[in-house]
Amino acid sequence: MSKATLTLGNQTLEMPVVVGTENEVGISIGVLRGSSGAITLDPGYGNTGSCTSAITFIDGERGVLRYRGYAIEDLAAHASFVEVMHLLVYGALPTAAQLERFQHSLAHHTLLHEDMKKFYEGFPPKAQPMSVLSAMVASLSTYYETDDDLNIIRLLAKLKTIAALSYKKSIGQPFVYPRNDLDFVADFLHMMFAVPTEAYHVNEVVRKALDMLLILHADHEQNCSTSTVRMVGSSGADLFSTISTGISALSGPLHGGANTAVIKMLELIRADGSDYAKYIAKAKDRNDPFRLMGFGHRVYKQFDPRARLIKKAADQVLDQLGITDPLLAIAKNLERVALEDEYFVKRKLYPNLDFYSGIVYRAMGLPTSMFTVLFALGRLPGWIAHFKEMRDNRDRLHRPRQIYTGPMLRPIPPIEYR
Ligand code: SDX
Repeated sequence: MSKATLTLGNQTLEMPVVVGTENEVGISIGVLRGSSGAITLDPGYGNTGSCTSAITFIDGERGVLRYRGYAIEDLAAHASFVEVMHLLVYGALPTAAQLERFQHSLAHHTLLHEDMKKFYEGFPPKAQPMSVLSAMVASLSTYYETDDDLNIIRLLAKLKTIAALSYKKSIGQPFVYPRNDLDFVADFLHMMFAVPTEAYHVNEVVRKALDMLLILHADHEQNCSTSTVRMVGSSGADLFSTISTGISALSGPLHGGANTAVIKMLELIRADGSDYAKYIAKAKDRNDPFRLMGFGHRVYKQFDPRARLIKKAADQVLDQLGITDPLLAIAKNLERVALEDEYFVKRKLYPNLDFYSGIVYRAMGLPTSMFTVLFALGRLPGWIAHFKEMRDNRDRLHRPRQIYTGPMLRPIPPIEYR
């Protein structure tokens, strides 16, 4: 199949077809407007490809997710988050020597300029952590003005410092500096939870589970925040300014903010006598704005493979830490009832990666307010990989068209006639 034919009025247009390495088919419509004056219209871009990409492959019908050809299940079981960072950003899993150099580079760029600590004094104590994260990342471009590859290392290294500092600020505890003797995730946990009054030992169960969760969140092709990064980056904006817009896009409850919204939903159901059947009914009621947060996905029309892995991690982490979380039982009951209900089955609504992630974060002692920040920490290498690919491919400035539906030409009436 090498071309598509479109008939528009008395015109017949032929357009080339692009077939990806996994046999996805795209109709290349570059000639459409020039030869017919017409454009396509696809609100929400559910049927529109914005680019070709060699980073991540998703098959929503089969529940497949691969980073650079490696199955997410294999990466979660056999790789570290730092190795996955290297894979996504530089295109290959690192050799032992490359991994050592990469880890050394990351460890030696974790500090923020001391003046940046003053920025936190201006934020109110209860400032939304994602707003703080976005503002602080954008501010990095005022310190590092040359937009070069070292900035990729700087951002990969500094985001966890910025995140941990925003948490310490929110609870009024002293900032904890990064430590080079700890691995990437252990260092983040240490900055989050260490206090000057006693020694803090990283729990290996927590460290390992968080490392895996960060892998699961690392990339997901053209999701809302990654498409935002490619859109903003296409203007030539620098890395820090561009990634700060991806953080803002991720903060929305329909996207990365869903993990926080799921916990709030489960707590609401628990406070309402754990009457999950009532909330399933609300989710099905078109007149009720309530949605089953953590359920449904634009691409996955069966189980999100990440949700399967996170659900398993939830059981393991709670068991290993000896924690019983009533919200887990509610979540499992919601999932069981929903998956048997015609409304959800017909619409192919399954748990997505946000449905169980918050329960694992809670078990780790991480505050709900930081859940979406953790999503951003995981997604950062994916955003950077797409930013780099867009630049390397010299993608054109993103500038979609529209169909105008406003008033036609009209004279300005004198104010007394408006
Ligand atoms: C992420 O794109 C990515 O890759 C994102 C992500 C990533 O890794 O980057 O995977 C991360 O963002 C996961 C999604 C997290 N969001 C949520 O869990 C919020 C709850 N889910 C939804 O609001 C919704 O499912 C979306 C936003 C995720 C997807 O919405 P779509 O594709 O625009 O689908 P839709 O809103 O058009 O829904 C289709 C139908 C509608 O019913 P009908 O009009 O056919 O009667 O399904 C219903 C919707 O009302 N529906 C839901 C529902 N999700 C969809 N009904 C109840 N509860 C839900 N959660």
